[in-house]
Amino acid sequence: MTLAADAREAEIHLEHVSKWFGRGENDAEMLRAVDGLDISIARGEMVALLGKTGCGKSTTFNMICGLLAPSEGTVRVQGCDPFKNFNDLRGKIAVVFQNDRLLPWRTAIGNVELGLEMLDMPRPEGRKIAQSWLSRLGLEGHENDYPHALSGGMRQRVSIARAFATDASILLCDEPFSALDEITGQRLREEFANLVRENRKTAVFITHSINEALQIGDRVVVMTRPAKIAYDVRLGDGATSEQNAAIRARIQDVLAA
Ligand SMILES: Nc1ncnc2c1ncn2[C@@H]1O[C@H](COP(=O)(O)OP(=O)(O)OP(=O)(O)O)[C@@H](O)[C@H]1O
Ligand SMILES: [Mg+2]
Repeated sequence: MTLAADAREAEIHLEHVSKWFGRGENDAEMLRAVDGLDISIARGEMVALLGKTGCGKSTTFNMICGLLAPSEGTVRVQGCDPFKNFNDLRGKIAVVFQNDRLLPWRTAIGNVELGLEMLDMPRPEGRKIAQSWLSRLGLEGHENDYPHALSGGMRQRVSIARAFATDASILLCDEPFSALDEITGQRLREEFANLVRENRKTAVFITHSINEALQIGDRVVVMTRPAKIAYDVRLGDGATSEQNAAIRARIQDVLAA
């Protein structure tokens, strides 16, 4: 399939995308954070973007969210330029950030309702939806708590509820579980992966953990620095343990290089 055909059909499509940042006073010295990245993500895929710290994952993520423009190349989300046509994608993309980014002056339910208010949903309906997502994420009884009174795991659940409540078809997540202890992180990862599949979302999930990528991804894309794809693999349900071990070994090799 040609890239042009991919671009029309893909849910998320990056073609020859580069991003550099100016460092000196005159921007004379440039830092290349992303280097000619090509990637197509189909509807319903759950893709783990894996790479070492500083390799350009968040920069790539921010270009997909429409928070940053590429220096070169094209980024398309559902056929739109997410930076130039930010408003056209309102309600179609939901984001779970590395830190929960809840508003401290809003209660748990108030934070979940916020995304719905921005989509002009009437308040009573928004409240019902927010309530049901908080319950699904095990936060019944904490609706009126403020973020400071919630644990890190609970705050992260609120931000997941906020992302799912908008019913956006694309979920973008930047290391949402990395600040949690192993057991809480493991449980939330499983819940999250189930929710994505049940609700038939397309999800891009950034991580620097090989285990997390292999546990959640249908596909793992490994990036080297500056962000460029070094290995792109689909994980089959029927894979043998030898096949999985070979994939893990290859990922480790790419990351060690
Ligand atoms: N706004 C910016 N201005 C200048 N340099 C930046 C900017 N944003 C990112 N960088 C640089 O680009 C490179 C990639 O950063 P990025 O945040 O994308 O990495 P990352 O893969 O998300 O890392 P981590 O795993 O630590 O979150 C780094 O060297 C970083 O210093
Ligand atoms: Mg990052």
